[in-house]
Amino acid sequence: MKKSFFMLVVATLILGACKKEEEPQKSLYLRLGGNAAIQAVIDQFIANVAADARINAFFAQAAADPARLKKLRDNLVNQIGEATGGPEKYTGLDMKTAHKGMKITDAHFNALVEDLSLALDKFSVPAMEKTELLTALGGMRADIVGQ
Ligand code: HEM
Repeated sequence: MKKSFFMLVVATLILGACKKEEEPQKSLYLRLGGNAAIQAVIDQFIANVAADARINAFFAQAAADPARLKKLRDNLVNQIGEATGGPEKYTGLDMKTAHKGMKITDAHFNALVEDLSLALDKFSVPAMEKTELLTALGGMRADIVGQ
């Protein structure tokens, strides 16, 4: 009796461990908290950029036009939603076209990433999710810098 109970416990533990291994990793989108969390981060990010003298001049036209700013904000939410595995569809310009002629430097790019990083910190996004998101965006650098 005792032995079969022991075997049952062992079998349960083994099955439990196997099941865990089979469970697919949740998408970055879900780990970030989905659309509502991404919207909150983007709003904070935009506030950080607006206050950042290193790069806010780039956004003067958008800042002066509420409809244009809303479009940029929605584009960013959809872009990040889609890039992290969410159901959103990004319908804006590709990154090369969107930043053509802006002469964005690595320093500008780094400043913007820092503003996003601070927004992620404000919402206590864990280190792993933060690194994954910033790495994904870092992959866009070549299409944005020096265009
Ligand atoms: C990974 C980094 C970046 C991402 C993901 C990103 C994403 C975007 C997106 C989605 C748009 C809208 C495209 C459209 O209108 O269809 C946009 C526009 C724009 N981006 Fe970026 N961008 C990045 C870096 C930068 C940097 C570093 C700067 C300058 C410091 C910059 C300046 C701008 C400006 C000025 C616009 C046009 C805004 C307007 O007036 O409507 N971007 N970007």
